[in-house]
Amino acid sequence: MKQLVLATNNKHKVEELKVMLEGLPVEILTLDAFPGLSPVEEDVDTLEGNALKKAREIHRVTKLPALADDSGLEVGYLNGAPGVHTSRFAGENASYEDNWKKLLHDMLGVPARRRNARFRCALAFVAPGTEQIVEGICAGRIVESSRGRNGFGYDPVFQPNGHSVTFAEMSDDLKNSLSHRGHATESMKPILHHYFSRS
Ligand code: IMP
Repeated sequence: MKQLVLATNNKHKVEELKVMLEGLPVEILTLDAFPGLSPVEEDVDTLEGNALKKAREIHRVTKLPALADDSGLEVGYLNGAPGVHTSRFAGENASYEDNWKKLLHDMLGVPARRRNARFRCALAFVAPGTEQIVEGICAGRIVESSRGRNGFGYDPVFQPNGHSVTFAEMSDDLKNSLSHRGHATESMKPILHHYFSRS
């Protein structure tokens, strides 16, 4: 069977992507299958640039088709921050909780109508003879206090539009059907189907 490497060390992203890619005629490998690889530095100033950098690098070292995600949270009140710096909003080694606590703190007293935010995901696929990049967006708002225990990252403080619960209060299936990563994966699936059914 043909193989596809998920170019991420984030276990939560791996779990979500594996479920969303079920049904593709391909074996999904994770970076655990390649011990000793150095992490790819995310030093480009766009999500698209970082996703492409990760997919290119993992394709180069594994010689296999690679899929990489780079995601960010863009908060209207913060003029689009933290954006590309989402994972280190509260500092270089900040935990998920440190990050969302800082966000709630920075937005203390901000009224409901100014709490809009969106998650954006850039998903890059690199394989011999092809480089493809797609985007997925999920619009919503930053709630006043954290709710829920599912998911990861900013899930306890992000409520997607049209729902009264946060990502962290939803089932995995519901989150995947609405999320930025879910939308990007849906756009990427036909590209992957086409690639793996011809090569
Ligand atoms: P990166 O794509 O690995 O740079 O991750 C950016 C950061 O965005 C992660 O560390 C998470 O904090 C956050 N993030 C990305 N996707 C999600 C999500 O689906 N839910 C909550 N937080 C997320």
